[in-house]
Amino acid sequence: DVDFKKMMRLKLDYINGIPFLQFICKNWEKIWNFQARSDDLLICTYPKAGTTWIQEIVDLIQNDGDIKRCQRAPCHDRVPFIELMTPLSFKSGVEQASEMPSPRVLKSHIPIQLLPPSFWEHNCKVIYVARNAKDNLVSYFHFGRMNQGMPDPGTWPEFFETFLAGEVSWGPWHDHVKGWWEAREHHRILYLFYEDMKENPAREIRKVMQFLEKDLDEKILEKIAHHSSFQTMKENPMANFSTMPSFIFDQSISPFMRKGTVGDWKTHFTVAQNERFNEDYTKKMAGTSLTFRTEL
Ligand code: A3P
Repeated sequence: DVDFKKMMRLKLDYINGIPFLQFICKNWEKIWNFQARSDDLLICTYPKAGTTWIQEIVDLIQNDGDIKRCQRAPCHDRVPFIELMTPLSFKSGVEQASEMPSPRVLKSHIPIQLLPPSFWEHNCKVIYVARNAKDNLVSYFHFGRMNQGMPDPGTWPEFFETFLAGEVSWGPWHDHVKGWWEAREHHRILYLFYEDMKENPAREIRKVMQFLEKDLDEKILEKIAHHSSFQTMKENPMANFSTMPSFIFDQSISPFMRKGTVGDWKTHFTVAQNERFNEDYTKKMAGTSLTFRTEL
């Protein structure tokens, strides 16, 4: 059993200096040539920034808060993950998307410089969710422990260093959030923050609603806020990834819906790690107007 688990753990390779899972690199041509459609909505995030959460919110808005309808399929079937390529017999994200009728909602973690150009050519709308680096790192660590298809994160101090070096799938957090932040001035991008969504879900859901040009009344908005809350999503089999086989997502190690809070980094970072993190952060985030809250 242990050997089997080791075999499962995929390795990283590079595309233009950015680490990706090997199967993504091998199929990069197909991903780069992805054919977007002008009515596609792209949800883009750094991994573990709240992708599943915003996906659920978008689906609820598009379906006028119809809970049943939003439970028609697991989140990973409702929203194709465009760069997903695995050695398993699952459909690739590109295939899954190409078979889907419009209007589509698509998911990606691709840093802006590597986004398939077709999205820009069609001027697609993008919702980007960013989460503060410290909580994002903690969440990524636990996800690496449970997701047997990703490289083994090692111990907490090991993964802490790997993350700071940007040697994780989809590359460095800092460049990712900055790249998409700068692009919002020139493209149809709604840039949201996990911390804002936690602080005032209704306010952020309203922003998404306006961006999608939907007009729903307050009652429905409240309903959407309730059904996209952490607790409700944790119990929703169509949102909590319990539909993924446990040999891939081993939720006995760490549940996909783990904590869903702001500030969990405080239970992980040592004082020394925090100092080291802050020093590195100041350098890498110098000169950007982008700021984050690490507690509420
Ligand atoms: P934690 O590991 O900190 O709990 P992604 O969907 O991008 O993979 O992100 C997963 C993270 O978002 C996990 O963070 C998960 O618990 C959190 N999350 C998912 N749904 C949420 C919700 N409705 N409210 C708050 N956090 C949520």
